[in-house]
Amino acid sequence: MDLEKLLTDRLAPAFAAVAGVPVDPVVRRSQRADFQSDAALALARRLGRPPRAIATEVLERAEVGDLCAAAEVSGPGFINLTVAERTLGGLVSALATDPRLGVPASAAPETVVVDYSSPNVAKEMHVGHLRSTVIGDAAARLLEWLGHRVVRANHLGDWGTPFGMLIEHLVDLGEAEATQELSMGDLDSFYQAARAKFDTDEAFRERSRLRVVALQGGDEGTRRLWRLLVEQSERYFLTVYDLLDVTLTGRDFQGESSYNDLLAPVVAELDGLGLLRESDGAACVFPPGSVGRDGEPLPLIVRKSDGGYGYPATDLAAIRHRTGELGATRLLYVVGLPQQRHFEMVYAVAEQAGWLAPPARAEHVGFGSILGPDGRMLRSRAGGSVKLVGLLEEAVARATALTRSRNPELGEAEAAEVGRAVGIGAIKYADLSSDRHRDYVLDWERMLSLDGNTAPYLQYAYSRIRSIFRRAGVAARPDAGISLAEPAERALAFELVGFGAVVAQVERSLEFHHLAAYLHRLATAFSAFYERCPVLRAEEPVRESRLVLCDLTARVLRQGLHLLGIRTPERM
Ligand code: ARG
Repeated sequence: MDLEKLLTDRLAPAFAAVAGVPVDPVVRRSQRADFQSDAALALARRLGRPPRAIATEVLERAEVGDLCAAAEVSGPGFINLTVAERTLGGLVSALATDPRLGVPASAAPETVVVDYSSPNVAKEMHVGHLRSTVIGDAAARLLEWLGHRVVRANHLGDWGTPFGMLIEHLVDLGEAEATQELSMGDLDSFYQAARAKFDTDEAFRERSRLRVVALQGGDEGTRRLWRLLVEQSERYFLTVYDLLDVTLTGRDFQGESSYNDLLAPVVAELDGLGLLRESDGAACVFPPGSVGRDGEPLPLIVRKSDGGYGYPATDLAAIRHRTGELGATRLLYVVGLPQQRHFEMVYAVAEQAGWLAPPARAEHVGFGSILGPDGRMLRSRAGGSVKLVGLLEEAVARATALTRSRNPELGEAEAAEVGRAVGIGAIKYADLSSDRHRDYVLDWERMLSLDGNTAPYLQYAYSRIRSIFRRAGVAARPDAGISLAEPAERALAFELVGFGAVVAQVERSLEFHHLAAYLHRLATAFSAFYERCPVLRAEEPVRESRLVLCDLTARVLRQGLHLLGIRTPERM
């Protein structure tokens, strides 16, 4: 139970009695005391009474004596609360014996589909896919830890008209050569070469067109070549996931093609519901509320004029499958913000069709772009899109070099291991610690720095605590009495008991920068504590108490970073 909530539960009835209506006391951390509530100020006008009088009466009625060492009215009518050492110590002790660190499993577990990563076959993953993969994996880890049933859906782009030209290019190259190129991860050059022929060679274009028809018609030979393309790309994506240390596996691919047989029935069902309208030969739905800049209603095209189905129809079929077959009630789409309109329209149509009805709901977990140091979209030196693996390898190389220079005592293998954890951790953390709705600048120096809100700073804090226990040769005793006489001990304890509230917030918002900011505050509070409060040199019983604070900090840091998909090496 977190303190804000405990105090809120005590103040709320008193406020309600004074005001005659329910009042949220808005208890928050405070500079003046441990916590404060300013609700009396907001009530003053409504009640026509001075705020100090309201606050005083609230405190007379509120039962906080067992939790607080002091509860006072200050200034114009703030209520200042100082938590009793016994209360805080009790919460810390409860945390020390709780394997879940104050984060209860969800009381209402549900099936959640996390649609993430979702790159396209025979195309390089770009940095947008990196963000989706990193954010989506954190969402999957966090929701799973809270007890939800998580279905990872890697909505691979494995269907559509480009496959005609891709297959023809494969035929031109020969299977062996093409397989070789794709398995090396040369997806972009494969795609570009196909594209170049398609744009300049009339005969190739015609072959490609016929190939699409054969593919859609289920021609066996064509299917086999298509599968080859898909398999090679999947294999390559799995190596990226492995390097990136994400939980996606080969079983999580749910390519667009897997919905092919559902597309005609989905459109037929929309037709049966009377939702279809013809526009320029295409079958469309005009969801209420979707209007363009000019105020004209915007259509969602569910069947193109050539009879083919596209991205929107596939997403509708996927929603119907996810709620209907998988029984999911929370559908997450971790996709860049440029696709916001697409998802709004798809959700609106799915609601109209009854495929997305309460308690089921869909959320677009959107995100901005990654910018280069110049503040523009990240580009390679040649001006093309940046190859994701290149980026990851650079992160690992930089971090490994830094690790070697910072800690020459580590052996080769351990330095490589640490370099990988730090490099990949830095990339993920840079992403997760910024507000996902915004763009962020990829800045190597900053994200690999040992100071500031970075993965290496947190990983270092963790390894430093582990080294205390290595030196001490003992473990913390979870049942030790907790003493919090020093302000730095109190400050650290307040952060420790706040983990549960932050995780609960992120469960709803999927804004991981709140979790990152919390972990950074925790590590900073630890560092201030460690500077002022000797641990191993302290007298008993304080030494035991401080070891518990150290151990809890390490456990919360490790768990928090684990939720973000970041490793915590024992030594750095
Ligand atoms: N493959 C798409 C892209 O690269 C992303 C797919 C996102 N998921 C979805 N259900 N539409 O843009």
